[in-house]
Amino acid sequence: MIHPVRRLTADDWRAARATRLRALADAPGAFASTLAREEAFDEATWRTRITDNAWFAAGDPAVGLACGIPEPGDADGRHLVGMWVEPARRGEGVADLLVDAVVAWARADGGRRLALWVVDGNVRARRCYERLGFTLTGERQPLPTDPSVTESRMLRHLV
Ligand SMILES: CC(C)(COP(=O)(O)OP(=O)(O)OC[C@H]1O[C@@H](n2cnc3c(N)ncnc32)[C@H](O)[C@@H]1OP(=O)(O)O)[C@@H](O)C(=O)NCCC(=O)NCCS
Repeated sequence: MIHPVRRLTADDWRAARATRLRALADAPGAFASTLAREEAFDEATWRTRITDNAWFAAGDPAVGLACGIPEPGDADGRHLVGMWVEPARRGEGVADLLVDAVVAWARADGGRRLALWVVDGNVRARRCYERLGFTLTGERQPLPTDPSVTESRMLRHLV
């Protein structure tokens, strides 16, 4: 099945919200945020999140979501967050399409590297990222929403 990926605009905030909340409900241990936190965001917050960053959805209605953001403190770095594919659609290449879209955005935005954090033990996600050219940097940190869990940084060079 083909799930075209498109960049969301602020007017897509309702679809972005619905998909992101599904992701947080489906995989609460995978993200450095919580369903309760983001359920409380108002329309203006969603619009700002979308316009300040690069949100991509696969399919319409969306079956996957990914987001590119600036890397704090690194003008040449970009960061991949919020990767999620609907459970029934996993293993179909949707993750590849989403990462391709974020990589294309990062390159066009002048980024030279794309980083992400993946929770230790999330083997499926880590394998997916390894297949897509990310390698572990060796950096680890507690997951902000659950310091009993650690996450590892992965990096893909874009040039
Ligand atoms: C992470 C995610 C986006 C990847 O999308 P996907 O469609 O599942 O990814 P793929 O099937 O293309 O790749 C997963 C890899 O893990 C492997 N895999 C599948 N099930 C697995 C399992 N139970 N344990 C370990 N590896 C597994 C697959 O074989 C594949 O590896 P391969 O390419 O070497 O064959 C998706 O699983 C997801 O949304 N997970 C929940 C949210 C999440 O964890 N997000 C990541 C936040 S950093």
